[in-house]
Amino acid sequence: MRKIILDCDPGHDDAVAIMMAAKHPDIELLGITTVAGNQVLEKTTRNALNVCQFLDIDVPVYAGCSLPLVRSQQIIAEDIHGTTGLDGPTFEPLTRKAESKHAVDFIIETLMASNGDITLVPTGPLTNIAMAMRREPKILDKIQEIVLMGGAYQLGNVTPAAEFNMAADGEAGYVVFTSGRPIVMMGLDLTRQALCYPSIVDRMDKINNRAARLFVDLMRFFNSTQKKVFGWEGGPLHDPTCIAYLIDPSCVETRSMFVEVEIRSEKCYGRTLCDYFHVTKNEPNAKVGVKLNQEKFWDIVEECIKFYN
Ligand code: BDR
Ligand code: CA
Repeated sequence: MRKIILDCDPGHDDAVAIMMAAKHPDIELLGITTVAGNQVLEKTTRNALNVCQFLDIDVPVYAGCSLPLVRSQQIIAEDIHGTTGLDGPTFEPLTRKAESKHAVDFIIETLMASNGDITLVPTGPLTNIAMAMRREPKILDKIQEIVLMGGAYQLGNVTPAAEFNMAADGEAGYVVFTSGRPIVMMGLDLTRQALCYPSIVDRMDKINNRAARLFVDLMRFFNSTQKKVFGWEGGPLHDPTCIAYLIDPSCVETRSMFVEVEIRSEKCYGRTLCDYFHVTKNEPNAKVGVKLNQEKFWDIVEECIKFYN
C-alpha cells in the first residue's frame, strides 16, 4: 500500500489520475492538492471537487498556489482542456468544498507527521511542492519518493524545448530536481506512448459504470482538442502513467539520468535537460520513463475504472 498526496491541476488527464488513485487497494490517497496550471486555480480546484463529488470520492481537497514562484505570467492550457479546464462532462451542482487549509500547509504538516512513507505525486506545475520544500526544508527527509509527470528528453509541447508543467513554473521544477530526493519522471517521451485511441475509449465505455461514463466524456473532448492542436487520433493520457507506475512499476521501463531544469534561457525556459548518455558524468538524480508497456497500462486503467459502481 503506497500512501500518496496527489498534487494536480485538473485537467482531463489529472481527472483520470484522481479516478485511478482514489479506489485502488494498493494506494492510500491522503489528500488531493490543487495548483494553477491547465486553468487558473479556482477552476482546477473546482474540477477536482467535481470529480470527487461525481465519483463519491471521500478525500479532502486543498487549494494551493495560484501563481508560479517567479515568472509573472501564468500560462494555462485552454486550447487542450477548454474554458472550464475540464470541458466535456456535465456535472451536477457542486456542494463539496475545498478545505480551508492551504495545500502547502497540508503537504508540510502531513509529511512532518509521517514516518517518511509518503510519496508525492505531482501532475501539474511544481509550484506547491517547491514552495513546501522552501518553506519547511525538514520535509525533504520525510519524502519517500516523488513520482511526477513533467518534462521531456525529446520534444516539448508548449515550446519546442519545454513540456507544459515545466514551462508553467520552471523555477519550481528547478527546486524539485535539485532537492536530492528520489524522483521518477514521466515525461512526454513516455506519456506519448499512452495514446487514448477511440478503440480504448470504446473499451472503457463497455464497463458501463459512473467512472466509465466520466472517462468517456472526458476523453471524447480531450481527443478532439488533441487532434486539433497536435493532429493525432488519441490524446496522450499523461498523468495517469504516474498512478499506473505506483500500482505496477513493471509497466514503465526507466533509465537513470541527471536532469536539470533550464531557467535562464528565454527560448529554452522550462527545458528538462536529461543526460541520457551520461555525458556530464553527474550522478543521476531521476529515473526517467522511457518505455511504456501499453497492454499493462490500459489493463490497469480498466481495472481502476472497474472499482466504481
Ligand atoms: C501535462 O500538462 C497538462 O496539460 C497535462 O495535465 C499534463 O500534466 C502534459 O504536458
Ligand atoms: Ca496535469
